[in-house]
Amino acid sequence: MHILVTGGAGYIGSHTCIALIEAGHTVVVVDDFSNSHPEALKRVETICETSVPLYQGDVGSRALLEQIFSEHNIDGVIHFAGSKAVGESVEKPMLYYRNNVTASQVLIETMQHAGVHTLVFSSSATVYGDPHSVPIAEDFPVGATNPYGRSKLVVEQIMQDQAVANSAFNAIILRYFNPVGAHASGKIGEDPNGIPNNLMPFIAQVAVGKRSELSIFGGDYPTKDGTGVRDYIHVCDLAEGHAKALETLHGKPGAHIFNLGTGAGVSVLDMVKAYARVSQRPIPYQIVARRPGDVAQCYASPDHAKTVLGWQAVRSLDDMVASSWRWQSSNPHGYREA
Ligand code: WQD
Repeated sequence: MHILVTGGAGYIGSHTCIALIEAGHTVVVVDDFSNSHPEALKRVETICETSVPLYQGDVGSRALLEQIFSEHNIDGVIHFAGSKAVGESVEKPMLYYRNNVTASQVLIETMQHAGVHTLVFSSSATVYGDPHSVPIAEDFPVGATNPYGRSKLVVEQIMQDQAVANSAFNAIILRYFNPVGAHASGKIGEDPNGIPNNLMPFIAQVAVGKRSELSIFGGDYPTKDGTGVRDYIHVCDLAEGHAKALETLHGKPGAHIFNLGTGAGVSVLDMVKAYARVSQRPIPYQIVARRPGDVAQCYASPDHAKTVLGWQAVRSLDDMVASSWRWQSSNPHGYREA
C-alpha cells in the first residue's frame, strides 16, 4: 500500500516508516519539523535504501493535503503529527486543540474528499486517566485528566462519529502505552527538544553525561517498590503494530480500537537498574515529590491486538534499553550534530 505518514520525521513516525517500507509498502511524509529533524528522514532513506517523498508543512493545511492527495495515490494515512507534552498542554490548551483536534478534522475532511478511507490514529493510554485496575482493556472507562489527553480522546470520538456517518471510513485507533528504545542500527531514535519530559530519554542523557542525575517523581506509590509502574514498549514493536493494523484492517471500514503495549508493568527503579546494567554507566538519582497528574500504575491488556491483528510485542526490556543506549551513545546530541 501507498501510505501517507503525518509526522513521519518524528520519533515514532520515522520508526514506522522503516517498518512499513520493510513490510513492502511505500510511504510519503508530511512534517513541519516543529518537533522533529529532517536528518531523521535522511537516515530512514539510508537504512531502507530508498527515497521518501517529503512535504514540509502543517498537516492542518487543507491546500497542502489536497496537493499530496492529488500527487499521490494514497491508500491509507497514519497520523502521528501533533503536540504531545502533558505539562505544556496545561499551559497552552489552545495550541493543543489546534494542533491535535482541528488539524485532525481537516485531515479527515480532506481524506473524505479525496476518497481516501483508512486512517490510523496515534492515540495514547493517557485517555484512560487513572485506571480503576490494571491491566487496562480497551473497554475500560476513558477520562483524560489534561488537555493533551482530552485532545486525543476528542479525535478518537470524531473518528468514531465519522465511521457512523460515512460507511466507507475506516477508523483505526491505536492507544500507545510508553514507547521507548530505538532502531537496532543506532541511526535513529528519540531526540526530545530541551529537557526530556519522559523517563527513558532522561535516563539516557544521564548515562551519556548530559544530565547529572535523575529525579524520580515519587517513591511512595502503592507499587512493588514505591515508584511509578508503566508499560514500556519497544518503538520497533509499536511500529510493526501499525503495519499489521493497516494490513489486517484495510478495506474493513468501521471503528477499531487497540492497546499497543506489552502487558508487563515496569517500575522506574526497574528501568534505572536495567539501564545501569546494560550501559555499564552509573545512573545517579534522587527520589523527589510526585509529579502532578501521574498515576501509580498503567499497563495494558494486549490481548485484543493479539487476537484481531495477530500482533504482539516481542522485544524485551533489555532490547529496549540496549537500543536506547546505542542511539544515545552514538548520537549524544541527537540529530543536531548532523
Ligand atoms: C514514566 C514514569 C514518572 C520522568 C507520558 C504521557 C503519555 C505518553 C508517554 C505521549 C512515571 C517517572 C518520568 C522523570 C520520573 N506521551 N518519571 N522522572 O507519564 O507514563 O506518559 O509519556 O504520547 O501520553 O502521559 O511517561 O516517561 O513521563 O513517566 O520519575 O524525569 O517515570 O513519574 O512514573 P508517562 P513518562
